[in-house]
Amino acid sequence: MKTYLLTPGPTPVPESISAIFAKPILHHRTPEFQALFQEVKVGLQVVFQTQQDVMLLASTGTGAMDAAVSNIFKKGDKVLTVNAGKFGDRWSKIARTYGLETVEILVERGSAVTGAQIQDCIKMHPDAKAILFQAHETSTGAMMPVQEICQIAQKHQLLTVCDGITGVGVFDLPMDRWGIDVLLTGSQKAFMLPPGLAFIALSERAWQYAKDSDLPHFYFDLKKERKALETHQTAWTPAISLIQGLQESLRMIRAEGLEKVFNRHKTLGQCARKAVDSLGLERLAKDCPSPAITGFWVPEGIDGKAIPKLMRDRYGVTITGGQDELTGKIIRISHLGYVGIFDLTTAFSCLELVLKELGHGLSFGTSVGALLKEYASEDRAK
Ligand SMILES: Cc1ncc(COP(=O)(O)O)c(C=O)c1O
Repeated sequence: MKTYLLTPGPTPVPESISAIFAKPILHHRTPEFQALFQEVKVGLQVVFQTQQDVMLLASTGTGAMDAAVSNIFKKGDKVLTVNAGKFGDRWSKIARTYGLETVEILVERGSAVTGAQIQDCIKMHPDAKAILFQAHETSTGAMMPVQEICQIAQKHQLLTVCDGITGVGVFDLPMDRWGIDVLLTGSQKAFMLPPGLAFIALSERAWQYAKDSDLPHFYFDLKKERKALETHQTAWTPAISLIQGLQESLRMIRAEGLEKVFNRHKTLGQCARKAVDSLGLERLAKDCPSPAITGFWVPEGIDGKAIPKLMRDRYGVTITGGQDELTGKIIRISHLGYVGIFDLTTAFSCLELVLKELGHGLSFGTSVGALLKEYASEDRAK
């Protein structure tokens, strides 16, 4: 059976990247690897839109979240966390693991945090040192107002720690321009690579905090990583093959151009939303829709867990349902990374087949028609 992957990580890997993994492994202490690494370092700065060093960790994205907390804070520091879903909740769990005092800003699932919620929380906790949040909460598809969060945080001298795991390379997140103090992501999202690499950059202010940090860490030592970067190395054995793949991925992103990459994701998001609406399904994140994924609530009377299962097992199309308290209640179709319009027509064709089978009264072609109509109306020459 031919298979299709429309999940928010891992995302599809282009053939030109997969081919690289079949090449003989390089040694990392060679001029060849150093030249490759130098190119990759610059490419990452372009995608992060920063002059700061972007460090590469051999881990998934959570490793970079862990490193952010354990390298910057001191035991007992108070931090605000935006909990708008599973990944916001992860910030709180990591911070608590390291003995920080966390104040959670709890956000309704499928919504974005508001500036007013943050202002209120800061008023009640003026001694907080930082705010930890997602650029995009993948478990619901809600986009967070990153620029506004940064503006508020700067007014109150709070450090901004942004999980950009499904944001960097998907939509505009200019680290330096917006004053994001810590920005991180992972390889299996917009970088179109398999899982196993994480990327993290710190502002000057964050590096100042890091000087005073007293939290334990060994493997994820960002000062050591920064030092290693000076000689085009990582602190430990780098994930060499993935970094070779990253070179190709960054070349692809830079050849397309960041602006066009963002526009492609934006268009796919618009098309997916039209498709969902055409079926009369209720979307999540209505006020803060995402160019990375489109989610909707499972309609009454339909078995929510059966939708992704049937799509995958019977038709080879892998999408995702909900996680934790949203299990069986929502469906998420991803359009993030190496994804084009015909991946979406496949996903929605399959969704229609399965919904019909589960008792939905749709007419075949409804969502695919809406999707194509929206796509055709977009001026993609921009
Ligand atoms: C926003 C966000 N944060 C954190 C993570 C966790 O990343 P990883 O599974 O690579 O550790 C994910 C994974 O999907 C995510 O989407």
